[in-house]
Amino acid sequence: MCRALAVFAKRMELFRIVSGGKAFALFQNKSIINGENMKSIFVSMIAAAGLVVAGSAMATDMPELAKKSGCTACHTVEKKLVGPAWRDVSKAYNKVGATGTAVDPKVYQTTQKVAAILKEHGKATPEAWLVEKVSKGGKGDWFTTTAMIPNAPRVSQADIKTLVDFVLGLEKK
Ligand code: HEC
Repeated sequence: MCRALAVFAKRMELFRIVSGGKAFALFQNKSIINGENMKSIFVSMIAAAGLVVAGSAMATDMPELAKKSGCTACHTVEKKLVGPAWRDVSKAYNKVGATGTAVDPKVYQTTQKVAAILKEHGKATPEAWLVEKVSKGGKGDWFTTTAMIPNAPRVSQADIKTLVDFVLGLEKK
């Protein structure tokens, strides 16, 4: 409920910015509304509506399963919270991990090469490693102050696998 209100308020703000307050000002002063003005009002309203739709399509929300499993206490898709942003995790393991190049610490805020991490833990794929990491918790691979708590057995292996696949899928080519 609160979230819905916040989203609504954000959209209204966006609409106000995009329309530059013009549409409302013109409505208030009826005498200056003529054909041309009406046209520009509608154009700016349609543009604003388009931006609102684009804005909501851009940020990926956390899936229901992540909320139910308690991941959202520490993670969001787009922003670092207690744990790294899931998009950054996905970038690290997909794009950079695939080539074995060092992950750029400034961009991804991780301390190690993905290939080295996999080797250290004797895992063949990012999926296998992340399922184990999320199950057991731990810290030290990302620049965070807190450790991830063990999520298993509170969260089932099947659900952890689904969540890891969601994370990896965010940036999969
Ligand atoms: C108590 C906070 C907390 C909770 C709850 C939590 N995480 Fe984390 N998560 C973290 C932290 C902190 C890290 C960084 C660990 C590190 O630096 O090694 C992390 C890292 C990760 C990573 C990247 C692991 C790596 O080594 O690259 C994934 C994937 C992840 N979490 C998924 C999940 C999922 C899925 C859940 C829910 C089932 C979850 N997390 C719940 C705090 C949390």
